[in-house]
Amino acid sequence: MIGGKKKCIGLIFGGNSNEHEVSISSAKTVYEAFNSERNKELYIVKTFYINKYGDWLDSDISEKILIGGIEKNKTKKQEIFNQKKINFLDGITFQNIDVWFPLLHGFNGEDGSIHGLLRFTKKPLVGCGIIGSALGMDKILMKTIFSNLKLPQVNYVVFQNKDLNDKDVKNEIIDEILKKLNFPIFVKPSNSGSSLGISKVTNESEILQALEKAWEIDPRILIEEGLEVREIECGIIGNSKLLTSEIGEVHYESDWYDYDSKYYSNNKIIIPAEIDSKITKEIKDIAIKSCRALNIFGFARVDFFLEKSSNKILLNEINTIPGFTKNSMFPMLWEASGLKIEQLVAKLVDISLDL
Ligand SMILES: Nc1ncnc2c1ncn2[C@@H]1O[C@H](COP(=O)(O)OP(=O)(O)O)[C@@H](O)[C@H]1O
Ligand SMILES: [Mg+2]
Repeated sequence: MIGGKKKCIGLIFGGNSNEHEVSISSAKTVYEAFNSERNKELYIVKTFYINKYGDWLDSDISEKILIGGIEKNKTKKQEIFNQKKINFLDGITFQNIDVWFPLLHGFNGEDGSIHGLLRFTKKPLVGCGIIGSALGMDKILMKTIFSNLKLPQVNYVVFQNKDLNDKDVKNEIIDEILKKLNFPIFVKPSNSGSSLGISKVTNESEILQALEKAWEIDPRILIEEGLEVREIECGIIGNSKLLTSEIGEVHYESDWYDYDSKYYSNNKIIIPAEIDSKITKEIKDIAIKSCRALNIFGFARVDFFLEKSSNKILLNEINTIPGFTKNSMFPMLWEASGLKIEQLVAKLVDISLDL
């Protein structure tokens, strides 16, 4: 780099989360992008793997996980993945990091906790702050704010901290669902991701099981009316000015976009989505409005449903640490918008520094 030192990027991945594996895949992609011909003169990446216990591992080991250096040695791999520390940050040095790039999807990361922890280092991070991340992760609060702003959403009901072991409580919940929503319904834990803990329910007899599955992940539960929809996604980057990417559509073969169809099947991603320009514009406007409403900036992916029968746009959710694997929508949306992944990661660093 002429006239300056390389910026040190602290790439954090893994995590005490049910999206641990996805995070490793995302980090591999981002690590490669920072080590591309274009970027390696500008950046140096220091990696921090957080294992499933929430313990941070040093950069040498972390890097091996990303570049496949421990793949062949299964015993060593287990040792690393199961390493337990007394203090989670023991032996970790992070003083030379210039910009953090946390790629922790889901719990103990995307829910705002990593943003809070990193604030103590007084260094900028790629992504938004504590509030935006926490709200983006919590479907109930997110929807409450959207509905205050009259942003279009599917019909839903919410149950918070009800004791599902109590038979009367169970019956009350089921009665309320039957009174307020039409089948099919989607039962979701308020905090989760990658479709984990979500069930599609088509009749009364399946409700209880679905509630219990969601309840295992979060005692706060959201239940939505299920519609026949197209799934549309839009990328956001920026700070005071938010930019929207092209709009993408995902096609999958399963009945709905569950975990397996997200990560283990050949989905078709269509960018730009084949929708008329008026709807595209409306989607981009709502994407920006919804991010502003939750104080989300840096980068995010805003997901929509387009009801098949009516072409009605419905806001689904915002992901504040969107999937960054090779097959993920977010980097693909930006590539189609003119930013190759190498340029995208560099741009995200600039945004975090407000350059
Ligand atoms: N109300 C709904 N109508 C139709 N499909 C839905 C509805 N809610 C969820 N789904 C399906 O479930 C998937 C996951 O739901 P979502 O709320 O996006 O959870 P996650 O945060 O885990 O991605 C969606 O992408 C969609 O395929
Ligand atoms: Mg989703």
